[in-house]
Amino acid sequence: MEPYDKIMEAVEFIRAKSLLQPRVGVVLGSGLGEFAARVEGAAAIPYEEIPHFRKVSVAGHAGRLVLGTVGGAPTAVLQGRYHYYEGHAIEDVVFPVRVLARLGIQSLLLTNAAGGIGRELQPGDLMIIRDHINLMGLNPLRGANDERLGPRFPDMSAVYDPAFQEVIAAAQAEIGRTPRHGVYLALSGPSYETPAEIRMLAALGADAVGMSTVPEAVCARHLGLRVAGISCVTNLAAGISKAPLSHNEVTETADRVKGDFMKLLTLVIPKMEK
Ligand code: HPA
Repeated sequence: MEPYDKIMEAVEFIRAKSLLQPRVGVVLGSGLGEFAARVEGAAAIPYEEIPHFRKVSVAGHAGRLVLGTVGGAPTAVLQGRYHYYEGHAIEDVVFPVRVLARLGIQSLLLTNAAGGIGRELQPGDLMIIRDHINLMGLNPLRGANDERLGPRFPDMSAVYDPAFQEVIAAAQAEIGRTPRHGVYLALSGPSYETPAEIRMLAALGADAVGMSTVPEAVCARHLGLRVAGISCVTNLAAGISKAPLSHNEVTETADRVKGDFMKLLTLVIPKMEK
């Protein structure tokens, strides 16, 4: 079956479950899935039920598509994402974003947990992604291009919509946080970085490092969606603090800031509908 036909099969399945026409899409990162409970009038569909969606394996990721409204904006929330390090093909990692685009979203908010590299970043900060560096070693658009999805050589000179960055910064100020912007760098994982690698990434201009988001962002721009990104800085990157890194620390920090994270999304999502 053609990749495009798989997308349309998933779309038809979802349309049969919910009449909602989502305008905004959201991807919830590690430890940040609780926001899905804030979606009003929600229908939740487990990924396993949707044709061509893979099973989700990481602890802290639920694996449901939640359709409803946030501050009145019809929204499709991906509660849990597929990571390349889980062994999924990169086409499967970006598949849900393509399905949301065909369901009708115009803009996409990507969230993740990340290690802080930039000097001013502290665990608990919610960094507005200004740009990214793709060091995952692959591109989700490799292979035959389907012009129905987007162009062969999509522009990446402004992946993260400047107007959305302003919306997020204003919302941060509204909840009493100092807005921080930065460059997110993606590696394939799943091991965390060495201190030498973090020094290299700092020299390359990275402010935060993680194992996701970039494939979805590239794919979303290919589809012509407007994109926003927020990194929850869950820990200082390797070597910046002396402490070893652990997934527990990542989920603990995400848990600690989830109140502000959810307030932020509640403010931002309705403004992304416009
Ligand atoms: N490195 C890579 N990915 C991460 C980190 C990190 O320090 N923290 C959360 N995700």
